[in-house]
Amino acid sequence: MRVSISGKIVIVTGAGGGIGRAIAVKVARAGSNLALVGGHNLDKLNETAKLVEECGAEAYVLPGDLTDDEFLFSCVKKIVNHFGAIDILINNAGMALNETFEKTSVEKFDQIYRINVRTPFVLCQQVLPYLRDSDAAAIVNISSSLGHKGYAGQAAYAASKHALRGMSKSLANETYTEGIRVHTVCPGGVYTDMLSVARPDLGSEGMIMPDDVAETVLFLLEFRTNAVVDEINIRREGKPPYEI
Ligand SMILES: NC(=O)c1ccc[n+]([C@@H]2O[C@H](COP(=O)([O-])OP(=O)(O)OC[C@H]3O[C@@H](n4cnc5c(N)ncnc54)[C@H](OP(=O)(O)O)[C@@H]3O)[C@@H](O)[C@H]2O)c1
Repeated sequence: MRVSISGKIVIVTGAGGGIGRAIAVKVARAGSNLALVGGHNLDKLNETAKLVEECGAEAYVLPGDLTDDEFLFSCVKKIVNHFGAIDILINNAGMALNETFEKTSVEKFDQIYRINVRTPFVLCQQVLPYLRDSDAAAIVNISSSLGHKGYAGQAAYAASKHALRGMSKSLANETYTEGIRVHTVCPGGVYTDMLSVARPDLGSEGMIMPDDVAETVLFLLEFRTNAVVDEINIRREGKPPYEI
C-alpha cells in the first residue's frame, strides 16, 4: 500500500544538480513542499525551484556551502521557521574525484568526507527531533555503487560512500521503533555533470537517468507498510544481476 506524501515538508540537498533536481520535482509532483538546500550555483537552484513551483508546490531555496559549519548548522532552524515542520530529509549533495590512491591529497580526502559523510551526519542529527512529530518520517541517503565496491581511482569517494551506508544502517536500527525510516540508495553511473568528473571515460550510452533514481526515492517515501526496505541498489541494464 502506498501512502501519500502530499503536504509534507521535504529537504533535498544539492537540488541544483542532476539527481537532486529530479528528486525535488518528483516529490513536488506528489504534493510535497520543498526546502532546496545547499549549492554554489544559484541559477541551477532557482531553475529547480521554478520546476517545483510549476508542480504547484512551494520551494524554499537555501543556497550555500554545506561544508561551512555556519551555514550547515543554520539550515534546519531556518526551514522550521519557514515551514513549521520537517517530515523527510534527502541527503543528496555530494562530490566525486577521479584520482589514484597515491595522488589523492589529504585535503581532497577531507573535502570529500566533509560533504559526503559529515554533512549528512549533521543534518540527520538536526532533523530527528522534527521527524519524531511526523507520520511520514523518512531519511534517504544517496550513497553509490561505490558504497559497495572500490574501483581504481575512486579511493576517497568509495571510502565516503561506504561510510554513508554504514552510518545509515546504524541510524535505521536506532530509529525504526520511532517510526522513522532510514534508507540508502546506491546507484551505478547516472547521467549527470558528476559523471564527467568521476568517470570521464563514460558517455551517456546505457546510463541510469536521474529520473530513475528519483522514482526509486519516491517509492521509498510512499511505501510505508509492514515491510521495510533499507537499501536499494540501482544497476545499469546489461550488467549481470549481482553486479552493481
Ligand atoms: N552521477 C552518478 O553517477 C552518481 C552515481 C551514484 C551516486 N551519485 C550521488 O548522487 C548525488 C548527486 O550527484 P549528481 O550525480 O546529481 O551530481 P551533480 O549534478 O554534480 O550534483 C551534485 C550536487 O551537490 C551539490 N554540492 C556539492 N558540493 C556541495 C557543497 N560543498 N555544499 C553544497 N552543495 C554541494 C552541488 O551544488 P553546486 O554544484 O551548485 O555547488 C550539486 O547541486 C551525489 O551524492 C553523488 O555522489 C551519483
